[in-house]
Amino acid sequence: MIEAMEQRRSIRAYEDRPVSRELLEEILRAGTLAPSSKNRQPWRFVVVTGQAKAEMLAVMKAGLEREKTAPLLSDSRQHLAGAERTWEIMGEAPAVIFVVNALGLDLYASLTPEERIFELCNVQSIGAAVENMSLAAVELGLGSLWIGDHFFAYQELRDWLGAEGEVSAALAVGYAAEDPPPRPRKSVESVTEWRT
Ligand SMILES: Cc1cc2nc3c(=O)[nH]c(=O)nc-3n(C[C@H](O)[C@H](O)[C@H](O)COP(=O)(O)O)c2cc1C
Repeated sequence: MIEAMEQRRSIRAYEDRPVSRELLEEILRAGTLAPSSKNRQPWRFVVVTGQAKAEMLAVMKAGLEREKTAPLLSDSRQHLAGAERTWEIMGEAPAVIFVVNALGLDLYASLTPEERIFELCNVQSIGAAVENMSLAAVELGLGSLWIGDHFFAYQELRDWLGAEGEVSAALAVGYAAEDPPPRPRKSVESVTEWRT
């Protein structure tokens, strides 16, 4: 598994080649093996492939366009061009798995400390599931991209997905058409304090 961690890259170019349902199911199973706070397993998955992908892309595009004139994330407008690039990558990938936090609280809710802790724990559980899936993809000879740019089209995608809770992430999956070098990492020393 450490080997898969070393090999994993965010893949932003995909071959025009479908991924079998069996492989996608294997990736989803890896997601469900993740640990979760109080074993709540808050994840729900919506796998978008084939014809449905064009529909999803149109919905997301509408959100990205709306963001230009009526932004919900006005403080993040410098990242909008990046989100358009992510949208293109999602178009290239043969499958996009949306990861829904079924227990997720409203994006605009003001939370009590307990609600915030509940949210933080569920979001960590979701993150563990996404990481499991991205590592499983490596082991299955596939590439993936963990996506947060869907938040620019959050309302549109949430409605289209018919999701209860929060659409926490998307994972684009496909056969990699690039072999990027490792991206820089902070050293263990620079991010660790030892207390003995
Ligand atoms: C929560 C999260 C959201 C991300 N969202 C995006 C995204 O929307 N578009 C994108 O191209 N990359 C996205 N990434 C990928 C990161 O840019 C990438 O993991 C980072 O630059 C390190 O590169 P590596 O994954 O190849 O090691 C996201 C990663 C995470 C964990």
